[in-house]
Amino acid sequence: MTIRLGDEAPDFTAETTEGKINLYEYLGDGWGVLFSHPKDFTPVCTTELGAVAKLKPEFEKRNTKVLAVSVDPVDSHHKWLGDIEDVTGSAVNYPVIADPDRTVSDLYGMIHPNASDTLTVRSVFVIGPDKKVKLTITYPASTGRNFDEILRVIDSLQLTANYSVATPADWKEGDDVIITAAVSDDEAKEKFPKGFEAKKPYLRVTPQPNR
Ligand code: BEZ
Repeated sequence: MTIRLGDEAPDFTAETTEGKINLYEYLGDGWGVLFSHPKDFTPVCTTELGAVAKLKPEFEKRNTKVLAVSVDPVDSHHKWLGDIEDVTGSAVNYPVIADPDRTVSDLYGMIHPNASDTLTVRSVFVIGPDKKVKLTITYPASTGRNFDEILRVIDSLQLTANYSVATPADWKEGDDVIITAAVSDDEAKEKFPKGFEAKKPYLRVTPQPNR
């Protein structure tokens, strides 16, 4: 199945390292990141799971829960978690789904047969409180992901959700943001008391509203 932006995130119940979890119950009314990795006891994946464990407080600040998935069984995951802590110094503090029958991988299109018939690629899905998919990214098995970038996108998505703004190229927390076209100049004057600059009629920038 191909998941596209705006689609409803498929719900599922799966075995994880923290017991059986239902996706929608786990996420509650917050945000979520579901990310797949190809296989247990592999080097890039080991570094990734440790990196996400270290960043968990940053995800929590954003009211975002993380959930990993791979096609290996749960007893394999448990054995591997010790290695991840040894190597990265971070104990995995979020659930890792065991998906040996590929239910979750198939629901989210995480197996790309021309890359590998059996292994999940490095997919990332950001899911909003409305359970709609807000971001999809796919990396090859050989490239570890930049999870700071995922946090950056969540910051951008949450600004859009709360303030009707978009973020420009290479935006980072604290930079100016763009007022979306749906907001008229008159509305913008009310909505953005710090003022705005119209670089072009269609490109109006304002200081980040929540700072
Ligand atoms: C890795 O995590 O290092 C990896 C996993 C599957 C294929 C290639 C690399």
